[in-house]
Amino acid sequence: MSVHSDVKRRTVPQLMALKGDKKIVSLTAYIAPIARQLDPYMDMILVGDSTAMVGYAMDDTLSITLEQMAAHAKAVVRSTAHACVVVDMPFGTYQESLQQAFKNAAYLLASSGASAIKLEGGDVMAETTRFLVDRGIPVLAHVGLMPQYVNTMGGFKAQGLSDAAAERIYNDALAHQSAGAFAVVLEGIAEPLGRRITESLHIPTIGIGASPECDGQILVTEDILGLGDGRIPKFAKPFADVGALIREAASEYASSVRDGSFPTLDHCFGVKKRQSES
Ligand code: KIV
Repeated sequence: MSVHSDVKRRTVPQLMALKGDKKIVSLTAYIAPIARQLDPYMDMILVGDSTAMVGYAMDDTLSITLEQMAAHAKAVVRSTAHACVVVDMPFGTYQESLQQAFKNAAYLLASSGASAIKLEGGDVMAETTRFLVDRGIPVLAHVGLMPQYVNTMGGFKAQGLSDAAAERIYNDALAHQSAGAFAVVLEGIAEPLGRRITESLHIPTIGIGASPECDGQILVTEDILGLGDGRIPKFAKPFADVGALIREAASEYASSVRDGSFPTLDHCFGVKKRQSES
């Protein structure tokens, strides 16, 4: 049950139907206050495992747990009513076996009410996509720069820059489409490759550092709000400086407490109003 039960939430088939019609607009959210603000404007909200780095200040996304992702997904679903909520499968919770993937994906959806899961991986993970989709779990595939592969990639680096690498990523995206993925995230890849995949697939592509031609775009919300650690990826753009607003409010609050101008009796309980005020 959502906060506004009269509003219809976007479904996975509705997202798929946007290909060739309207751009799919998506951002990440991990907590209710942010999700609530984004919801009216988003087709999709991703509860990304990027929360490991963005929300928990970890060096990479590898150690976020299934339980943490489930808790974040639950908060986002509870505080939204419009966007389709997709949740990331964390590292190590789906690569071991098809059964492990199903068990953990089912837990994420059942415990949070999210509509779909996202998983990272090339064509080797297409079998997992097929297994989940056949059992009622919509899958958003994620290819190209895959943060869970940071150790094999040797860092967070753009992918598909050589012809051979581009061909591999192209085939990865095709493999997930054939396996039944409803869409594919293309992260940090050469622009011509992003365009080519978008033109070739019949399912939507969601770009993040891929191509303006992708069927949709996604970014990490904190990167566009000035709430990150100061490093803004090449593919992101600051659309507001919420960090500056927070600093301003925090500084004003601190001064008010220190100089005694806050709180006043108006902020207290059990205070009798004087005659002239009633
Ligand atoms: O974890 C995440 O936030 C993501 C998006 C940036 C695509 O995977």
